[in-house]
Amino acid sequence: MSLSLGTTAPLAVLGHDVEVPLVSGEKVGYAALDYAASAPALQRVWDDVAAYAPYYGSVHRGAGYLSQLSTDLFEQSRRTVAEFLDLRAGDQVVFTRATTDSLNLLAAAVPAGTRVFAFETEHHASLLPWAHAGLEVGYLRAPRSRAEAVAALEEALAAAPEGPKLLCVTGASNVTGELWPVAELTGTAHRYGARVVLDAAQLAPHHRVSVRELGVDWIAFSGHKLYAPFGAGVLAGRSDWLDAAEPYLAGGGATRTVARELDGSVAVQWHTGPARHEAGSPNVIGAYAIASACRALTEAGFDALEARERELVERLTAGLAEIPEVRVLNLFGAGSARVGVLSFVVRGWNSSHFAAALSAEYGIGVRDGLFCAHPLVRTLLGDEDSAPSECGAPEPSLPGERSLNAIRVSFGAGTPDEHVERFLAAVRELVTDGAAWNYRNEGGRCVADTRRAG
Ligand SMILES: Cc1ncc(COP(=O)(O)O)c(C=O)c1O
Repeated sequence: MSLSLGTTAPLAVLGHDVEVPLVSGEKVGYAALDYAASAPALQRVWDDVAAYAPYYGSVHRGAGYLSQLSTDLFEQSRRTVAEFLDLRAGDQVVFTRATTDSLNLLAAAVPAGTRVFAFETEHHASLLPWAHAGLEVGYLRAPRSRAEAVAALEEALAAAPEGPKLLCVTGASNVTGELWPVAELTGTAHRYGARVVLDAAQLAPHHRVSVRELGVDWIAFSGHKLYAPFGAGVLAGRSDWLDAAEPYLAGGGATRTVARELDGSVAVQWHTGPARHEAGSPNVIGAYAIASACRALTEAGFDALEARERELVERLTAGLAEIPEVRVLNLFGAGSARVGVLSFVVRGWNSSHFAAALSAEYGIGVRDGLFCAHPLVRTLLGDEDSAPSECGAPEPSLPGERSLNAIRVSFGAGTPDEHVERFLAAVRELVTDGAAWNYRNEGGRCVADTRRAG
């Protein structure tokens, strides 16, 4: 596969030619700049799934030809993911529904008494499963540099009592896009006997990830952020805790034998390995789609993909820096390395209003809100002035709590340069001239009115 470094996207995605209506009644090509929520499907993934669809059959449950073929495809997909992640011998790949599911699975498998550490800056999927599973959690304050993150972890681990420990950390922030010092944090964690799970939901679609080189014990990611939107995700890594834990779900596929005992009870022998936590009929299309995306990204080459994305990020940050009303949200300081994810606020604007105007007047799809990382976004917003408007923040504020939000723009291997250029031009125009149309709050959503602004 040849990779274009020109103005077109390196990889073909579905929806690149979709037109959407503007409030003016005109139509315009949709600029999908919300990859961090869900990336469009790669054309290659779609084609692979379509080619397989007629051969679809049950997995691990049928003697027929198509069942055998589907079982082989499912297991081959597991091996492709293991290669993509550069797993170690003995590591296993469990197919899940998505990152949230993967981290909840691990939380349920962690030995009782494990103390978990997580920075308060994490996505809720990385922040919340541990306490939810009844584990003790040490929340680490938002660090303002990578070195501070490593130092904060070291301090917390040094003070922690004996016993099993786990750090859950993101590879790239879903709010700022900033890269976290995963290898350094893992080195520190391991020196104190703590294990590490990497939330790679925002890292894997943008960067080559080697579990072997990073040294993390587990990794989790979602297919729908990796151009494979068919309802599957991955938890991969060490098998010991997973094999020792109760199965995540009880049911067919996870069992080796089930027998009725003389006393009327039912005795179960559970599988070890991935099957232990994959009860129920597996999502073979989802797993195959992830494997297809892994192959497509590997063939395109992460060196080239990363170089191209860095160039777009630089263009975006340079363009926004020229607009004094725009404040880009950074945890580790301006200019810190990031993937194609960036959040910002605009002085004098409510973020929901701004995002609605980008959609209704320019056909640009971004996200506004707190991005399932409420503590982080609130920390980053700090004392930012809000411009109250009828299009309020998406959730009612609690007494004494500011109800502010931000705008997030995100992109990837399917993004043509034109989308970033159009986005910058639209931000400039909105800041300079204001919205051309009126907006109102409809059921908590900011929507354009058919009246022009006066
Ligand atoms: C960093 C990070 N972790 C976890 C998740 C949860 O992923 P999913 O919603 O696919 O379970 C997300 C989703 O936005 C994310 O950005």
